[in-house]
Amino acid sequence: MAQDPRGHEPNPLIGGFAHDGPIVVKIGGGSDPEPVLDEVAELALAGRPTVLVHGGGAVADLLSEQLGVERRVIRSPDGTHSRRTDAAMLDVITLALLGRVKPRLISGLRARGARSVGLSGADGALLTATRKPALRSVQDGRTVLIRDDRSGRIERVDPAPVRAVLDRGHVPVVSPPASDAAGNLLNVDADEAAARLATALDASALVLLTDVGGVLADLGDPATRIARVGPHHLEGDVVRGRMRHKVRAGLRASRTVRQVAIGAAHLHRPIHQALSGAGSRLCDEGERPEDG
Ligand SMILES: Nc1ncnc2c1ncn2[C@@H]1O[C@H](COP(=O)(O)OP(=O)(O)OP(=O)(O)O)[C@@H](O)[C@H]1O
Ligand SMILES: [Mg+2]
Repeated sequence: MAQDPRGHEPNPLIGGFAHDGPIVVKIGGGSDPEPVLDEVAELALAGRPTVLVHGGGAVADLLSEQLGVERRVIRSPDGTHSRRTDAAMLDVITLALLGRVKPRLISGLRARGARSVGLSGADGALLTATRKPALRSVQDGRTVLIRDDRSGRIERVDPAPVRAVLDRGHVPVVSPPASDAAGNLLNVDADEAAARLATALDASALVLLTDVGGVLADLGDPATRIARVGPHHLEGDVVRGRMRHKVRAGLRASRTVRQVAIGAAHLHRPIHQALSGAGSRLCDEGERPEDG
């Protein structure tokens, strides 16, 4: 069993899992990737198949500023908001994810002795999406329709390219964009991509690592972390904005993936910690917090 370079006990996620599906880990673009890279490399080098999916929201924001591309937000009537993705913004997102975030993750893994292969959702038809037909956006109290957005919903996942990389003992590093059947690039939500990929791979765990410690009842107070999140937590407006996408995607995956968690990316061994109670566990069975 691989020794932790810092002399810690062996990671409990290693060993005894030979027949289990891979672990799918997603890291947000705004989080420091170093602790995640340490643990992904540790798992991969010990033979535990691990897939790293990444977003890049914060990096795309910075790049859009550098390139002078205006950043706009779509506020859906249900309270979620997402990036307005016109053609120029799709370019920015693609450059940020495939040109800045992914190479950093790949070279970070290499520096730790782990080999990885970068894939976008368009590579090998990994993620096929269809363009969202018309998006409703609330602007100044009025709902307007946006028809030319280059964002899509994931319709189909072909995990073959990811499996091919795993079969070689390497770490697939996956991100949006996806493409439609005609080959047009479409931005898709990275949490949804990770969740759909976890289901398609029959993963044993899906861990969504981000810049907060889990789903919080009060966003301003880290002590209000909800340990077990079910569908009823989406009923009010506690889970807002971008966290809503994450919870929705995670809950859907939890129908088939045994362990689904949201946790903080900056902790030591963030994957193990999120799965052992430091974050929020997601379960689509309508469990209430008092159920355990
Ligand atoms: N109830 C909530 N609990 C925790 N975070 C919440 C909640 N409601 C909204 N959020 C917001 O969700 C954010 C995390 O989602 P965000 O999309 O910003 O990051 P990410 O998904 O990790 O990154 P990326 O989008 O680049 O992949 C938090 O920083 C927080 O501001
Ligand atoms: Mg996000």
